[in-house]
Amino acid sequence: MSRINTPAQDHAINEKRSCVVSAGAGSGKTTVLSERFLRLVKDGTPCNRILTITFTRKAAMEMRGRIRSLLVKENLSDQIAIFHSAKISTVDSFCQDIVRRGCRDYGIPGNFRLASTRELNTASRQIATDLLIRQAQSPAGRYLLSLTDPSFIVEFLSGITTKTNIVHPLFPEDSYRCMLDYAERMRRNLISQIEQDVLSFEEQFSSEPRLTDDIGLALRGLENLKAGRPFFRSEEQFSGNSGKRETGATVKRLKKNINEKLNLLVLCDNTIENEENVKALYSLVAQYEEQVNNYKRSAGILTFQDCMKMSIDILLKDRKARQFYKNAFSYVMIDEFQDNNDDYRCLLYLLCEKKELFTNGIPVPADLEEGKIFLVGDEKQSIYRFRGADVSVFKKMREEISGCGGTFIELDTNFRTNKVLLENRTGQRSCIKNNPALQRAQDKRGEYGRSCRLFGK
Ligand SMILES: Nc1ncnc2c1ncn2[C@@H]1O[C@H](COP(=O)(O)OP(=O)(O)O)[C@@H](O)[C@H]1O
Ligand SMILES: [Mg+2]
Repeated sequence: MSRINTPAQDHAINEKRSCVVSAGAGSGKTTVLSERFLRLVKDGTPCNRILTITFTRKAAMEMRGRIRSLLVKENLSDQIAIFHSAKISTVDSFCQDIVRRGCRDYGIPGNFRLASTRELNTASRQIATDLLIRQAQSPAGRYLLSLTDPSFIVEFLSGITTKTNIVHPLFPEDSYRCMLDYAERMRRNLISQIEQDVLSFEEQFSSEPRLTDDIGLALRGLENLKAGRPFFRSEEQFSGNSGKRETGATVKRLKKNINEKLNLLVLCDNTIENEENVKALYSLVAQYEEQVNNYKRSAGILTFQDCMKMSIDILLKDRKARQFYKNAFSYVMIDEFQDNNDDYRCLLYLLCEKKELFTNGIPVPADLEEGKIFLVGDEKQSIYRFRGADVSVFKKMREEISGCGGTFIELDTNFRTNKVLLENRTGQRSCIKNNPALQRAQDKRGEYGRSCRLFGK
């Protein structure tokens, strides 16, 4: 089927200035990105001088296929011949590339690999357990064990692994005060997690008479916490009731989750209140962090966060590496840019810095090469929040890039309404209910074919 671009799509494909494109799913963003790739190649840029980044490996493979077929369709045989060297990858794999060049300076072997969450969890628990056994009689060990039981301490220590990275330690030497910040942040996080648990407890089980008391207790507890009082009054605790048999396991888990977080909260509160405790705990967490980093070094493993931070650090400090990556690519294009965070922005600004510059620190928008950066994404939707994605970064970059000579384009036509609904069966009813246009579509079954039959009786 032949496709005619909308004027907004044409604009995005042919725009010579740096450009941020935002639109909802199915409005042809990825199409525009691949067409723009083709346009750049036809204008004379070899395909291996364009860096294309997507969020998942699957998307990278699809993108590669999509672009390759465009080159084939246009019969660009010299480009097809070098297409294997075109850099179309995920940000993880691109960062690994940079890191391989400089990781030895951080004590990481060149043949490192990304750690799986599972192996990192196992190693973290082991390191935390060993450390606690060794430190049981130290001031930190005694303090912790007087507050709570060992499994919570292991939980607390191993939780540090996902928050730290090998470049910027959370607990740097000689700075025990960072422990206070950590405890404060952890306290805020715990309260918001407890809130979610309590609300979901209420939402799921409010019609279960045997749980009425526990739900009431949880809601009061939450109010107490928010007012700065302890969750339970003395002697209060959840009952052993778990409601109906089918849902019993969920109820038990919810209560256990809340209890575990309350235990960690006690730990935070006691730490925050007493300087001696802060110092004691600091010595323990700093050792824990160092041991985790040493483990990464000896096992040759890194987390995604390590890779991202290390890439930025390498580009910041190593003039040759920065020059190499800046020169390697004339254009940088990113798909699904809403799923990113401020580190990603720093990385891109370093890659897109004007060739003749070597700014001290992260380049500002005015330092960027004109027309080099092209971002597409859906400003309203981010699915990877759990990985530290932050929608405000998209907004910020849109403003920064359009504020210094770039453009912002919105694509206004949705081409995939039916297909999206076909792929996404869960939630389709509410999706229809909330969308008058789709309701009309559902009424005109014949016209919309298969997708509408799905909703029919
Ligand atoms: N101008 C157009 N006319 C018709 N179909 C289009 C047009 N642009 C894109 N499409 C189709 O719409 C669908 C969604 O496009 P895609 O680029 O994947 O959207 P997005 O990346 O915004 O989710 C694809 O099947 C694509 O071929
Ligand atoms: Mg897309």
